Amino acid sequence: MKYLLGIDVGTSGTKTALFDTKGTVIASSTFEYPMSQPQNGWAEQNPEDWWQASVNGIKSVIEKSGVSGTDIAGIGLSGQMHSLVMLDENNNVLRPAILWCDGRTTQECEEIHSIIGKERLIEITANPALAGFTSGKILWVRKHEPEIYNKCKHILLPKDYIRLKLTGVYATEVSDASGMGLLDVPNRCWSDEVLEKLNIDKSLLAKVYESPEVTGYVTEEIAKLTGLKAGTPVVGGAGDNAAAAVGTGVVEDGKAFATIGTSGVVFAHTDKLSIDPKGRVHTFCCAVPNAWHVMGVTLSAGASLQWFRNQLCENIVAEAKEKGVDPYEIMTALAETSPIGSNRLIFSPYLMGERTPHLDSDCRGSFTGFSAIHTRADMIRAVMEGVTFSLRDCQEILKGMNVSSDKIIACGGGSASPFWRQMIADIMACPVTTVSGKEGPAFGAAILAGVGAGIYESVPAACKEIIKEGEAKEANSENSAKYDNYYELYKMVYPALKEMYHKLINA
Ligand code: XUL
Repeated sequence: MKYLLGIDVGTSGTKTALFDTKGTVIASSTFEYPMSQPQNGWAEQNPEDWWQASVNGIKSVIEKSGVSGTDIAGIGLSGQMHSLVMLDENNNVLRPAILWCDGRTTQECEEIHSIIGKERLIEITANPALAGFTSGKILWVRKHEPEIYNKCKHILLPKDYIRLKLTGVYATEVSDASGMGLLDVPNRCWSDEVLEKLNIDKSLLAKVYESPEVTGYVTEEIAKLTGLKAGTPVVGGAGDNAAAAVGTGVVEDGKAFATIGTSGVVFAHTDKLSIDPKGRVHTFCCAVPNAWHVMGVTLSAGASLQWFRNQLCENIVAEAKEKGVDPYEIMTALAETSPIGSNRLIFSPYLMGERTPHLDSDCRGSFTGFSAIHTRADMIRAVMEGVTFSLRDCQEILKGMNVSSDKIIACGGGSASPFWRQMIADIMACPVTTVSGKEGPAFGAAILAGVGAGIYESVPAACKEIIKEGEAKEANSENSAKYDNYYELYKMVYPALKEMYHKLINA
């Protein structure tokens, strides 16, 4: 029997999962780590924490499953996108990674637009320069920490740093590389024009592969450390969203998923390159060779509820511990006691600024409409509704580009709640279904490993063979009409507060 390993380097932790070739999860382990926010709107992590969590995860799934390293046919990597890892000539990490949700680079993004021209940049990279993307972060380090930039010999993305540790190879793949702002997305290679104009040396960047291609093999040293077999192939893998698409079978036209993880994403596959000229949604290469995807991103989805839990639900967390349940279960049960519209309370989930649809790293979250009648139940429901309205913003733009589907597959931690899934169905006014596997991007990465190892013929063939859809939650039209009303009000909050947000950030 052969097995496939998927490692997903997430923002809250790294998930390592082992599957058989039918897609059944054999063992799974997640090791968490912190994120530091040295200033309002900044976000950093230590790449060594990712590596420790990966090593612990590999050891743990091998031990739990009793599967021998020799039976693992391939490894696939996925991870948080865009985050900047800088290494010196000896592969030492030069500074904490600057994460995808870090908004410090507004000025650098403006510089990139003025050097290259926004339209030309969108033509080449399919996207404008966004604060979350890697290119602005590189320019920020060059400007503010020149001594570090001068020592930098390699620039990698999170999962590609783990690849380097496993195989000794500097490699990336098209889906994650698309989010660096340096890739020629239509042609799936680094853009010499962008690199030259931004004066970034191409030798700093890793070689670009397609997602199912083998990029390297586990070294002897790592085999000894982890229990893997030396020589096990490691495929390109994919950025977390492109990997989640594989894990949910969103690998052909007409298929889409919505995820509520730390961030929230609405993602649709497209065989034909399609770009939003305003850049409000991202067009990236997807994990299926020669295809793309379009996705809208709301930066603080699960992160909004997590913030609320951490700051305002201490007693719920204690109660959950006592009962041995997840605090989110108690929180969503409370939310269910509040009506649609949360008793006329609206939450805008812009805790870390926002990408889709506002492209504004300086805006911030708000509750609008507080009254003395409001309870914590209303506030929790408002957070869930606000996050889902933000997903609807993404869906509306995709619809306008004709790349959406008439059914959405829900994934990510938030989709575990049937209440939240029904809310997505009602707010997006379409059926919402789930898929059998709950391992998300780690599953997609493992499938890519199976394609690279020759177990499956292609990514779509693998998905057809092993992914099973669950039962759909249909939208309730009465609820949809009520939500529509609040969605219209939700859309009024950002324009009304926009100017104030910008003053507040500099106050
Ligand atoms: C996508 C994005 C996030 C991260 C989360 O553009 O920034 O979804 O990938 O891990």
